[in-house]
Amino acid sequence: MAYLQPDKPEKVYVPALRAAKEKGERLVCLTAYDYPTARIVDEAGIDIILVGDSIGNVIHGYGNTIPVTLDEILSALKAVKRGSSRALLVADMPYGSFHTGANKTVRNALKLMKGGGAEAVKLEGGRNRVELVKRLVEEEIPVMGHIGLTPQSVHKLGGYSVQGKTSDAAQRLIEDAKLLEEAGAFAIVLELVPREIAEIVTKELKISTVGIGAGLGCDIQVLVLHDLVGLSFGRLPRFVRQYANIREVMTDAVTKWMDDVKNGNYPSEKESYGLPDKAKATMKQKSKANKAE
Ligand code: KIV
Repeated sequence: MAYLQPDKPEKVYVPALRAAKEKGERLVCLTAYDYPTARIVDEAGIDIILVGDSIGNVIHGYGNTIPVTLDEILSALKAVKRGSSRALLVADMPYGSFHTGANKTVRNALKLMKGGGAEAVKLEGGRNRVELVKRLVEEEIPVMGHIGLTPQSVHKLGGYSVQGKTSDAAQRLIEDAKLLEEAGAFAIVLELVPREIAEIVTKELKISTVGIGAGLGCDIQVLVLHDLVGLSFGRLPRFVRQYANIREVMTDAVTKWMDDVKNGNYPSEKESYGLPDKAKATMKQKSKANKAE
């Protein structure tokens, strides 16, 4: 069997994360849920694309991530796969897809890997997911952990607040991170945790930390693309820095087009198709003949 080379020599694979950490090189991760945004972030040079269950808030307007299904992630993932060629592609395991037994979890993760083209999966939880992480890794499925604020636990937590704020809670987070590393995770998302705790975790682990609302000390930073470009609704968390206002740009374009249509300025002749002269002449003749009859 010939070992096929990756399409791009610069393609990011899981081991590249460890290499970057060892060199002290910061990496970047963004979400994408469709072909155009995948192409944009991949071509811009983003290292990791996450097809996150934030799709529930951002794309489907559910209000939280609880209702997101495996099929919704899978469908988004396939489009993102077609739009990306360099970034490491990570798929989120949505709520309910890893809660009813290890075999079922492996089957669902395999759907994302085989059917969707994911190169790794992400799942929320700390010590309670250790056995699952071990099992997935045994089945050659790279796993990214996710601790701190885990949005799938919104009902248990009663909202979206910073986690690990007491020394006991902080200690638990550090332990969870170590347990996930021992279980074989290749990276861990730290969401909404004090920067001091994220720094400790980042220093104590060999695997990469992926921070969101966790300060500058993480190895990798991740954001939801729609927050970064101003295409989301509602109050943005303070850790989001918005670099563009695409919502305003889109509203402006839609309003201008609407006005043009209403004022008869769209479509122009250039934006429509004329009947060729020959057909015009024939039609004129036919109409004359009809009138004469
Ligand atoms: O679903 C998601 O987008 C995430 C990131 C915010 C880490 O889990």
